[in-house]
Amino acid sequence: MNKLDFENIPLGRTFSDHMFICDYHDGKWNQPRIQPLVEIPTHPAAMALHYGQAIFEGMKATLSPDGIPLLFRPKKNAARLNASAERMGMPAFPEELFVEALKTLVEIEHKWIPPQDGSALYLRPFMYADEPFIGMRAATSFKFIIIASPAGPFFSKRIKLYAEKKYIRAAEGGTGEAKAAGNYAAAIRPTEIAKAKGYDQVLWLDAHEHKYIQEVGTMNIFFKIDGKFITPKLDGSVLHGITRMSVIEILKHRGFEVIEREISIDEIKEASKNKTLEEAFGTGTAVGIAYIQEIGMEDETIHVSDESPVGLEVNNKLDAIKTGKERDVFNWMVKVKENYA
Ligand SMILES: Cc1ncc(COP(=O)(O)O)c(C=O)c1O
Repeated sequence: MNKLDFENIPLGRTFSDHMFICDYHDGKWNQPRIQPLVEIPTHPAAMALHYGQAIFEGMKATLSPDGIPLLFRPKKNAARLNASAERMGMPAFPEELFVEALKTLVEIEHKWIPPQDGSALYLRPFMYADEPFIGMRAATSFKFIIIASPAGPFFSKRIKLYAEKKYIRAAEGGTGEAKAAGNYAAAIRPTEIAKAKGYDQVLWLDAHEHKYIQEVGTMNIFFKIDGKFITPKLDGSVLHGITRMSVIEILKHRGFEVIEREISIDEIKEASKNKTLEEAFGTGTAVGIAYIQEIGMEDETIHVSDESPVGLEVNNKLDAIKTGKERDVFNWMVKVKENYA
């Protein structure tokens, strides 16, 4: 840790000293423990490597002004992990133990939480099938692990999206709503193509008509049209973002109408033309809120907006709640420990 320069943290490459680990075998979770972070020997037939039984979560620990580590809605991550586990034929992890493990790990690693504004200790709980077996069935042994990685301040920039019509992220009845590793593998190539075209992220469209908007990159998406917010409804192919549900609550609390429904790319095009498209943004743990400037398609570009005043306000509010600078009226934050005196 002494080698870490908190002003220049390489994203996703630095890990704290410890990890939480628990093994599933004989039909139950065994031996939950926190130990030094080490490499884990893997059998070449480990089923996660072949059949992709692997899921994960992503969340952040922040510091309050008086130095208390805080977690943002950790029970929601526990529930989502188990929803993913169910879809992927994996065992549920006890939700109380999930939260307890996070708290204990963050307590041990609290010095790894970068103190700078906008920084956090990123937490990555994940589960994978480690049973060595060649054959298509659910594994009988798994590992559940939590690792932590300090993340420097993230400056939200305006992003340009590419509306993808060839590749899809998720189809009804598929695994779009699970945080399954394979979903991300399938997104890598289309994202690289969008980046090569000069865009920042892929705008994912529905699998049947390539018309209805699902998500953006690894974020949920919101549009403000004629004073109202619209976000794609959770139809089984959209991840249940915890930032999404929190932004809906903040917007409603601010007095905005928020509608969860199908929204097509044509409707966005139309709203841009007739100047009722006021702003659009993506929401997710990694960045908070990312403002969308334009959406590119094969043959045309939709201009969204150069400013995102409500998005900015919501982002600031989320940040202030997460860092204990503003009263947590929604009761979202969980203290890891009362004090470090
Ligand atoms: C595909 C996808 N959509 C949306 C999100 C946003 O979810 P959350 O707000 O819980 O980070 C994520 C990030 O976890 C994601 O990977």
